Amino acid sequence: MRLNKNVVFIGFMGCGKTTFGKKISRRLKCQFIDTDKYIENNSGMSISDIFASKGEAYFRSLETDVCRELSDKSGYVISTGGGIIKSEENMRLLKKNSVIVYLKATPEHIFRNIGNDNDRPLLRGGDKMEKITKLMNERIPVYESLADITVYVAGDTVSHVTEKILKSLEEILMRKICVIHGPNLNFTGIREKGIYGTRTLDDINNRIKDEAQKMGFEIDIFQSNYEGAIIDKLQKCYYDNVDGIIINPGAYTHYSYAIHDAIASVQIPTIEVHLSNIHKRDEFRHKSVTAPACVGQMCGFGENGYILAMSALKMMFK
Ligand code: DQA
Repeated sequence: MRLNKNVVFIGFMGCGKTTFGKKISRRLKCQFIDTDKYIENNSGMSISDIFASKGEAYFRSLETDVCRELSDKSGYVISTGGGIIKSEENMRLLKKNSVIVYLKATPEHIFRNIGNDNDRPLLRGGDKMEKITKLMNERIPVYESLADITVYVAGDTVSHVTEKILKSLEEILMRKICVIHGPNLNFTGIREKGIYGTRTLDDINNRIKDEAQKMGFEIDIFQSNYEGAIIDKLQKCYYDNVDGIIINPGAYTHYSYAIHDAIASVQIPTIEVHLSNIHKRDEFRHKSVTAPACVGQMCGFGENGYILAMSALKMMFK
């Protein structure tokens, strides 16, 4: 999944934001940032020292700076401090470009995790369990109002919770696939029916859309008879953070080095598809100059080739 947003973990201190943030960042192959660590590294002070010497308001302003910086970026998995939601501005910035994952826990779970931790400035002095419960009651409605995904962490294993988070993220951040049909494919169903079949391109595209939905892909389908338009579309895939491309370059397959170069440039896994088996046909069709820029080629399976290519992408993304 090429993240075009950030994934932000929120929840009460000790609920596992850093643990799960790190795990999810590894699985999504994204960079991980812990806002508390980030602030400590930038300021050269521990969170406890910042609270003690400069006060909570100052610490929250540092959090706002981090939120602002990260809200202009994407592709990060971020774990936040439990109180980051105390500022309206932080909430606005966090919401701007992120999927927010709220890790929901019980006071007992939190107490078990951090009951012996004396580095938590807001829990110092008095009965810890009471403090946790009171603070949680104040914050839970805010966490809930911000969350795109809520996952219960209490009484569940780390690996099970990780899978639940990934599944929810996959649903929200669906992989984007682009199918590009080249010249004359708009004439499928009309042209050489013995070779290309009787189904129209609309019929084929409807089937592609149905199967894409079943596989959980967001799909964009494009057709052009112009080489430059196909190149523009390939380049747009780059800017749109498309995760996979399926292309039938039509006759351009056999001579368009420009399309080869465009596929190579965008660095997006691309599968070449041909309705017919090009190796069984005229000699000039045996060579594909575009295939070397692709991860693979599917040819001779008619419209099923597009569906097979989508399954191949699905397997590659696992
Ligand atoms: C094709 C094969 C090409 O050789 C031909 O020029 C096409 C269609 C196919 O899908 O089989 O237009 O790409």
